Amino acid sequence: MVTTQTGALYLQPDRNLAMELVRATEAAAIRATPFIGKGDKIAADGAAVDAMRKFLGTVNFAGVVVIGEGEKDEAPMLFNGEEVGNGQGPACDIAVDPIDGTSLTAAGRGHAISMLAVADRGSMLDASSVFYMDKIVTGHEGIGVCDIRMSVAENIRALATAKGKPVEEMRIAVLDRPRHEQLIEEIRSVGAGTRIILDGDVAAGINAARHDSRIDMAIGTGGSPEGVATACAIKALGGFIQGRLAPTSEEEKQRGLAAGLRFDHVYEANDLVRSDNTFFVATGVTDGELVRGVRREGEIITTESIVLRSRSGTVRRVVADHLASKWLDA
Ligand code: FBP
Repeated sequence: MVTTQTGALYLQPDRNLAMELVRATEAAAIRATPFIGKGDKIAADGAAVDAMRKFLGTVNFAGVVVIGEGEKDEAPMLFNGEEVGNGQGPACDIAVDPIDGTSLTAAGRGHAISMLAVADRGSMLDASSVFYMDKIVTGHEGIGVCDIRMSVAENIRALATAKGKPVEEMRIAVLDRPRHEQLIEEIRSVGAGTRIILDGDVAAGINAARHDSRIDMAIGTGGSPEGVATACAIKALGGFIQGRLAPTSEEEKQRGLAAGLRFDHVYEANDLVRSDNTFFVATGVTDGELVRGVRREGEIITTESIVLRSRSGTVRRVVADHLASKWLDA
C-alpha cells in the first residue's frame, strides 16, 4: 500500500463536483452578455437564471437551493427550496447568484460575476429571512487576529501587523453606500486606503482572502445570502470570515427569530456553512479583479472562471473557449 503524509485524499481520489458546476456559471455569464450595458437588470438576471438552471439540471447531484432568487411565488426559477441537479449523486445545499452585480451588468460596469456555492446537505445557514449582514473577510492572517467586535481601526492595525505590512499600504474593500460613510472615514483616519466597490461584495471578499490580491480586507454591511456564499469560498481559501445579522426593521427581526436566527451572535465560517466539504464557482460577466468578463472574438466566446474546493484547498482558474454558433439564440 502507498503511504503518504498527505493522507486519504490522494489515496482515494474523489470527484470535484465544482468542475461540473462551472458549466452552469459559464452558461449564465454567456447568456447575460447581450444585456451588458443595456440598462435592463431584470432581463440580464432572467437570462442568467434560465441558463444556470438548465445547466444545473444536467449535473450529477441532488441539490436543494438554500439561497436562491427568493420565495417561490416571486421567483419562477431557482427559488429557495427548489430541487436542482439530476437527483443522483451527493445530497447538497446550493447557493446561487446567477449575477452578483445585476446593476453593474445593466450599466456596463466591471466586477459582475455569476456564482454558485455547494456544500453537504443541511450545512448552509438559511439566512434568507434577514437581508443584511455585517461582515469582515480577510486572508488566513486574520484568523485569531481580527474580530468583528473590534473597531475597524483595531482590525486594520492587527491585520497589518500579522501581514508584516505598513498600515498605510492596507487596502480595505467597502461597498459604496451611505450607511458606510463613518466606516470609510475610520478606515482612512488610521492611514489605510479604501477600495470602494459599487456592488458585488462576494468577489470583494474572495479578493480579500486570495494570496495575490491587492485587497487586504473586505468589511461592511452587505447581503446575508452573499455572506453564506462567501463563507463557502473562504473555507476553500483558508481565510477568515465573520458575520453578524443586521435586520433593518422589527418585522424582519421577528421573522429572523422565528427562523431560528440570532442577533447577538457572531457567525463564524463554521456557522455560516458547517460542512468542510464546500465548492465555490464563479465566472466573470464583466471584467473584474477576480476574473475577466465574457469576451467574443469572431466565432469564439471566452469565459474565465475560478473554481474553489475546500476539501483539497485547490483554487483553479478555468479559461474556456466556446463556439459562438452553439449559443446562437443568445
Ligand atoms: P445583486 O446584484 O444580486 O442585486 O447584489 C449586488 C450586491 O452589491 C451584493 O454583492 C451585496 O451583498 C448587496 O448587493 C448589497 O445590498 P444593497 O445594494 O442593498 O446595499
